[in-house]
Amino acid sequence: MMNQVYLNGKLLPIEQAQISVLDRGFLLGDGIYEVIPAFGGKLFRLEQHLQRLDKSLSAVRIPNPHNHSEWQEILQRLITSNDNDLSIYLQVTRGVAPKRDHAFPDKVVPTVFAMSNIIPEPDPATLEKGVNAITLDDIRWKRCDIKAITLLANVVLRQEAHDHNAAEAILIRDGQAMEGAASNLFIVSADTIYTPPKGPQLLPGVTRDLILELSREHGLTIEERNISEQSLNNAQEIWLTSSTREILPVTQLNGNQVGNGRPGKYWQQMIQLYRDYKKGLR
Ligand code: PDD
Repeated sequence: MMNQVYLNGKLLPIEQAQISVLDRGFLLGDGIYEVIPAFGGKLFRLEQHLQRLDKSLSAVRIPNPHNHSEWQEILQRLITSNDNDLSIYLQVTRGVAPKRDHAFPDKVVPTVFAMSNIIPEPDPATLEKGVNAITLDDIRWKRCDIKAITLLANVVLRQEAHDHNAAEAILIRDGQAMEGAASNLFIVSADTIYTPPKGPQLLPGVTRDLILELSREHGLTIEERNISEQSLNNAQEIWLTSSTREILPVTQLNGNQVGNGRPGKYWQQMIQLYRDYKKGLR
């Protein structure tokens, strides 16, 4: 059965969901999105995702068309399976304008679209071996804290990673490793976990916050601190986190082995804490 999608107040089959070619999301990438996982039929960390949505929308002056309980109702309607992990994608564009013009149109109604997709079970072999990553120059804009649908740089960077048989590109700006093309970055060095502090240069990941929370709760040493390219290269462990890929252990960076070349002991501990936390919500 084809899943229904949500468009501007209606649930409908995806082939029937249509928008105008004058939608500013289509013409200008003028919109904001979120990706929210649902585990066991329950939206995971919904409030945190909706708070980030509020921030992204207000940063680009798109009015939020819905309050949090309306969002919850809309997104809940897209959860048709309790058995699979799902990712709920939502996007809000500034809407349809009478003509293409960069400046905001007067009186425009935001377009709201949402759909759900199954998150495939992580391949056990991948988790056993870990993944490859490469470093690339961070060519994105200076407001990476905004979850904008305008993802051309991220798209090209991720593809370049794929071209090198790597699962992710780790982005370097002014000698500092910021995050992945679609994930946040953690390293382990001298038995301390590090992740770069929040700021305009990276997306404040919801998974990232959860890892900080779980580490502190379970007595692991974690610090928010800049990660130089050199400390990335010398790291004992490297992890990449996101709502859809959870916590990926990186065991090869630019073709060189990370640590002993296998997912590290801190990753083992963290993925267990994460899975237990997830289970606890079911
Ligand atoms: N991306 N950094 C970037 C640039 C991202 O695009 C994402 C997520 C993250 C991780 O954030 P979170 O833990 O809240 O998912 C960090 C989503 C999954 C995507 O674009 O599909």
